[in-house]
Amino acid sequence: MRKDNEHATFAINAIIMKFNTKTIHGGQENIDPAYGSVMPPIYQTTTYSQSTPGGHKGFEYSRSGNPTRSALEKSLASIENGKFGLAFGSGLAAIDAVMKLFKPGEEIISTNDLYGGSYRLFTSIFENMGIKFHFIGMNEVGNIEKYINQNTKLLWIETPTNPMMNIIDIEAVSKIAKSHNLLLAVDNTFATPYLQQPLDLGADIVMHSATKYLGGHSDVVLGGLVVKDEKLAKKLYFIQKASGAICGPQDSFLVLRGIKTLHLRIQRHCENGEAVAKFLRSHPKVGKVYWPGFEDHPNHDIAKKQMKDFGGMISFTTKEDTLKSATNLVEKLKVFTLAESLGGVESLAGHPASMTHASIPKEERAKTGVVDSLIRLSVGIEDEEDLINDLKQALG
Ligand SMILES: Cc1ncc(COP(=O)(O)O)c(C=O)c1O
Repeated sequence: MRKDNEHATFAINAIIMKFNTKTIHGGQENIDPAYGSVMPPIYQTTTYSQSTPGGHKGFEYSRSGNPTRSALEKSLASIENGKFGLAFGSGLAAIDAVMKLFKPGEEIISTNDLYGGSYRLFTSIFENMGIKFHFIGMNEVGNIEKYINQNTKLLWIETPTNPMMNIIDIEAVSKIAKSHNLLLAVDNTFATPYLQQPLDLGADIVMHSATKYLGGHSDVVLGGLVVKDEKLAKKLYFIQKASGAICGPQDSFLVLRGIKTLHLRIQRHCENGEAVAKFLRSHPKVGKVYWPGFEDHPNHDIAKKQMKDFGGMISFTTKEDTLKSATNLVEKLKVFTLAESLGGVESLAGHPASMTHASIPKEERAKTGVVDSLIRLSVGIEDEEDLINDLKQALG
């Protein structure tokens, strides 16, 4: 009989697998005992029959657990080298669940260069509930300790950061977290576990907007958490069930399918990302280019240490450094689509100041470099030449 915390007993495959094998098989053994289907069935059901009260086969009601979601949760745990995975209706719903671990009066230290929606959730929802946030630069980890006091409970980081592509040293931050008995959560949306595995570097919680690279095809909004510690997992499973921000079985299936090609896609994103970053840097109408693969990127050495490659996310400013020049450029793009979001197979261009980061006040944005001429590219997996030619024609 399945109890509230039974997710905790879902074993990850006993076989030792490398990453590419895990994307396909991790946590997926015995996925369909009924017919042996290779892909997990989409259990489009709210409830499960019981032979006697409490006599069920592991699932009672799909808010607390659904077999397709559970297959995804096990896959997430496997690819992040964790023990327990949790899937939610969106990345923000996953972050929301983490925030509900804390009480009024408790404090969280977050990087100041983060996804605008995370900032909005922290400042417009959880600050009103009495949680205090400090948004600080974390390029220099020495900065963090100044803000720690007896109420501090969590360090929240994103690396690479959205959209400035700053790199935070996860291992160094985790040492600070451990020495003060704090939790460390890492938003691993940009890097994905193909490039970096924060739990191996000492983080306690890994968070994903699976909407991005994990799903990979711009067709599903979903969020995930992965942890190693059973006590923490139980608290989060309780919040997932009690608050109810779960994802549906169809969406779980889509992300599971996406994860199976994660390694191949990210490899190509990285190759194309490098080519585009180098092209932009050589163009006379381009100002600054932010990409951690450049040797003169301020935290290139840390990126090299903690990431397998440098990813397909790039931000840049126009030489003219005006809103108009950035707007003109993105309007002329033909292969890149001007759109919110990132991480899909298709290349996207975004204007953070008016799109993804519009919820951050202009003064806060300016402090971190999100100026009006900044353009963010999610470099897809099309032909490199087509992407470069598109940027060339748009730059004029
Ligand atoms: C780094 C990062 N974290 C979290 C989120 C929020 O995820 P979702 O849109 O799935 O709620 C996003 C969305 O763009 C993101 O880019």
